[in-house]
Amino acid sequence: MSTSVENRGQFGSKLGFVLAAAGSAVGLGNIWKFPGKAYANGGGAFLLIYILLIALIGTTVMLAEFVIGRKTQKNAIGALRELNAKYAWIGGLGVLTGFIILCYYCQVGGWTINYIVGYITESSVVYADPMAYFLDMLGVNGFPLKGAIIFPLIFLALTSFVISRGVSEGIEKLSSVLMPLLFILLVGLMIRSCTLPGASDGLAYMFNVDFSTVNFNTFLVALGQAFFSLSLGMGVMITYSSYLSKDENLVANTGIICVLDTLVALFAGFMIIPAVFATGIEPGMGGGFAFATLAGVFMAIPGGTIFGTLFYALLFFAALTSSVSIMEGTVAFLVEEKGMERKKVVLSVSVVLFVIGVFYTLSQAYMDIHGVWWSIDGIQFPILGDFMEYLTDRLLLPLGALVTTVFVGWIWGTDNAIKEATSDGKYEFKLAPIWVVMVKYVAPIAIVCILVAGMIFGMAIS
Ligand code: TRP
Repeated sequence: MSTSVENRGQFGSKLGFVLAAAGSAVGLGNIWKFPGKAYANGGGAFLLIYILLIALIGTTVMLAEFVIGRKTQKNAIGALRELNAKYAWIGGLGVLTGFIILCYYCQVGGWTINYIVGYITESSVVYADPMAYFLDMLGVNGFPLKGAIIFPLIFLALTSFVISRGVSEGIEKLSSVLMPLLFILLVGLMIRSCTLPGASDGLAYMFNVDFSTVNFNTFLVALGQAFFSLSLGMGVMITYSSYLSKDENLVANTGIICVLDTLVALFAGFMIIPAVFATGIEPGMGGGFAFATLAGVFMAIPGGTIFGTLFYALLFFAALTSSVSIMEGTVAFLVEEKGMERKKVVLSVSVVLFVIGVFYTLSQAYMDIHGVWWSIDGIQFPILGDFMEYLTDRLLLPLGALVTTVFVGWIWGTDNAIKEATSDGKYEFKLAPIWVVMVKYVAPIAIVCILVAGMIFGMAIS
């Protein structure tokens, strides 16, 4: 698909859009972030809250973004400007958020390449001490040339390459093969992980719903994670649905994408957390989830090294389709609104975000991390790395989602939105009255409450 204003492309097929949107949603958020958050926030209770928030708020916001995009057929800022010029800044907020996310996303994307190479060339070193291998990549034994520079640079270069050519047929087609493959592999690995000796403690942890550990912070973490995982709150889904034709059923697509994305997150949780308990590797430091722990699973399967390589290859691909979508938001804006040349935009954006991103990986090493703080000799500093995540997941994404719901519910209006959601009455939308209540009242109020309470109490906790 091309993004030039005169000749905007469209997705080639119905499946193309679902795959592209699912490709955007399914990424490091599901497989690397989600298990870590579930583990740190009490297991079962967190899962329940997460699923509830996806079902109530995630679906509501996703449909809100879809209708804006398809109605206007424009990038996030252009779309809002067309509907109501006073609100174009909402799109601008999204561009900023996306830029911050990309800084660290490309670093972790680079780690996946490091692990592909690691499993191919030195799997015995990975197996010997998985945590040490992971920390070595982050730089505890000296400057992390591979983990912070070389591999992230390769990842970023691939993202830029795809973007600068337009999100073409290629990635659509590749997704249609690789996403199902990822899904199958996840299920297989999940089964192996859950049957490892000692895994049952992990399962018990995931199924044990204990609300005594739950507080407002838990809700905010779950909400931020839900938006991150569904690619909501920064206009990416506005941009993607802007390439969509009126024949598409937006409501059905919303359901499919939310379910798929949540399943992948749950599978990843049930793949990684039992392995944490079975192997005794405490992966907390530096976000070792999906990196350090899985070595125990791969060691325990015949041909594990091959599966390991395949797993990181698929994780890499999932990350790439997501990072492309994040960058597309920023680039589409600069190209369409500012009239800049696509290749130049990509290059300059990439250079800046790479330089900032390096500090993300650097800040993971030599560390004593407590939430957002880094302490040296008892003095606490905010860590640039984790601070970026805190800022986006805990503040900017919920804020972006909030203003999107208020905009659709109160400014643009739910009548217009439903007209678009049903393709002018072509499709049935039985839950429309409920969605109206959700988008006007429930979602904005819930987001404000969780945001405010989580911010106040969350700071004290971290
Ligand atoms: N959803 C992706 C993931 O889970 C990341 C992502 C892609 C994203 N596009 C986004 C997050 C837009 C927030 C907003 O890895």
